[in-house]
Amino acid sequence: MRKIREEQLSIRNGDPSVPLTTELIDKMHYTNMVVKETLRYRPPVIMVPYVVKKSYPVSDSYTVPKGAMVIPTLYPALHDPEVYEQPEEFIPERWEEGSKASEAKKNWLVFGTGTHVCLGQTYVMTSFAALIGKASMLVDVDHKVTPLSEQIKVFATIFPKDDVILKFTKRPDPSKV
Ligand code: HEM
Repeated sequence: MRKIREEQLSIRNGDPSVPLTTELIDKMHYTNMVVKETLRYRPPVIMVPYVVKKSYPVSDSYTVPKGAMVIPTLYPALHDPEVYEQPEEFIPERWEEGSKASEAKKNWLVFGTGTHVCLGQTYVMTSFAALIGKASMLVDVDHKVTPLSEQIKVFATIFPKDDVILKFTKRPDPSKV
């Protein structure tokens, strides 16, 4: 959070009231890496079901028949240790430009892929960076960690089992790191 705040103040030349623009969001290098790592670490959608319209081979030995349902699971691709070292750790720095993670486009399945790839993905990435960035300067967030915080429940998308207990406190001086 401190690093996000530092970046947010720096790109606004120390003035937290500078209005948000797309140019400003493009400068949120570290904040964008936090968004990417959050979505990798806990991808909201963990599987996407498809009905096969035409038989096609998925490997040398198996062809999926027309009419079957294929359900690719996104979670293992996003926790693949060959691409993401220490996959169970939250490491925003792994997304530095040119890194193994950022080059592995086939593993980045948070928003699906192909013809039906999520139409909202650019909106999600930019609005999350904008929101987290602004909030980092305006509020302190206190996460009450419980034994269920890291346990996952699935109800279409994923949630922590304790539903996330957060306390927001207005920061007295948003221009301070
Ligand atoms: C973190 C938030 C979101 C995640 C993780 C997410 C993820 C996904 C995934 C995995 C798919 C299926 C892609 C596939 O079939 O390969 C999808 C489809 C879709 N998403 Fe999202 N999504 C998010 C937010 C949004 C938002 C905010 C919008 C709209 C503003 C949106 C609009 C759509 C649409 C329209 C499709 C269907 C595209 C099609 O079938 O052609 N999504 N999304």
